[in-house]
Amino acid sequence: MAKLTEIGWEEFEALSPEAKRPYLENPDGGGLPYHTLFAQQFDRAALERLCALANRIRFINKSKEGALYLKNVLAHKRAMLYFSQPSSRTFLSHLAACQILGITTGSVRDAATSSEFKGESHEDSIRTFSSYFDMIIMRSPERGLAEKMAWELSNSERPIPILNAGSGKDQHPTQALLDIYTLVRSFENKGGIDGRTVTFCGDLMRGRTVRSLSHLLTNFRDVRQIFVAPPELQVPADVVMALAKKGVSFEVMDSLKEATKVSDAVYMTRIQDEWDQAKGESAKIDTSHFKFGAEELALLRPDAIIMHPLPRRDEIATCCDHDPRAMYWRQMRNGMWIRAALIAATFGFERTIMECGY
Ligand code: NCD
Repeated sequence: MAKLTEIGWEEFEALSPEAKRPYLENPDGGGLPYHTLFAQQFDRAALERLCALANRIRFINKSKEGALYLKNVLAHKRAMLYFSQPSSRTFLSHLAACQILGITTGSVRDAATSSEFKGESHEDSIRTFSSYFDMIIMRSPERGLAEKMAWELSNSERPIPILNAGSGKDQHPTQALLDIYTLVRSFENKGGIDGRTVTFCGDLMRGRTVRSLSHLLTNFRDVRQIFVAPPELQVPADVVMALAKKGVSFEVMDSLKEATKVSDAVYMTRIQDEWDQAKGESAKIDTSHFKFGAEELALLRPDAIIMHPLPRRDEIATCCDHDPRAMYWRQMRNGMWIRAALIAATFGFERTIMECGY
C-alpha cells in the first residue's frame, strides 16, 4: 500500500486525485479512506458500505440501549472541529455525529480566536491540534489546505486522520456522501440511482458541493447529469473533462423547466457570491431563470426529488417546502448519519457496529 510517508509534498500534490487515492487509504478500512479529502476517493463499493453503516447506526440509535451502546464505541476518541469558514449544518452534523459515537469534541470556529491570529502557521496549528485530539474535521477557504495538512500529519510523530468539511471552491466530499445517501434512500425499492437523471442548477462554477457530487455520481451506471446555470456560472472545465473521460453522459441546458421535466433529482445551489472578485459582481448576473418555484414544481415528475445542500436564499421558493418531493430537510439530517458512519469507519469500527447485537 502506498504511504504518505514515502512521498514528498510537491510530488504528492502534483498527482491526479486517482493517483493520490492509494496514499490516503485506511490500512484497516478495506478500501475506505483514512484521510477524507475529495470525492474521487470513494468507489461504489465504499459508498454502499457507508450507506449500509449509516442505516445501521440510525437503526441502533432508535432505542436507549442502542444509543448507549453507540456512545461507548468511540468514547476513547477526541475530535477537533476546525472551521475557519462559516458553517451551520456541516459543523453541527459533524458535532452531532461525534456525540452519537461518544467522541469528545473541541472546536475553533474563527481563526481570530486561535494562535494563527498571532502569526502561527497552519502547519503548527494542526500539529497543536493533533497533540490533543485523534481526528481533525476541518473547513477552510483555502483550496488544498486539507490535503497539505493530511500530508503534514501523516509525516509527523502523531499521525491522525483529517476529514475535509469543505475546501475553498474545490471539494466538499462529506456533503457529496450525504447527497448520495439521500439519493440512495429516495430511490430505494424504486430501482436505485442507476439510470437516473440529475440536474444541477445555480452557481456550478464556484459550488464545491456540485463538483464533489458530480464525481460521486460517476460511480453509478448510466446516470445522466444536466447542468443549468447562467453562462458566467456554468460548470467548470475540470468537471466536464472528468465526465467526458469517464464516458458519462452530460448536457448543458438553458431552461430549468425543460431540465425539471426529465429529471429524477433537481439539485439547486446558492450563488456563491462570497467568492466575487469585485464587490457586487454576482448581483449583476441575471439569475432569475435559475430558481425553483411553483411552476417548476408542477413540472416535476411524481417520484422525482428536489435537493439543496443549504443554506438557501431564494433559489427554492418556500411554497415547495411541504411537498413530499422536497428532500432538503431530510438531506440535512442524513448528513448526521452518514458522517457518523464515515467517522466510525475511519477509526476502524465499521465491522464492530455492523455485527453488534442491536
Ligand atoms: C455548502 C458549502 O458550504 O459549500 N453548504 C453546506 O455545507 N451545506 C453550500 C453553500 O454554502 O452554498
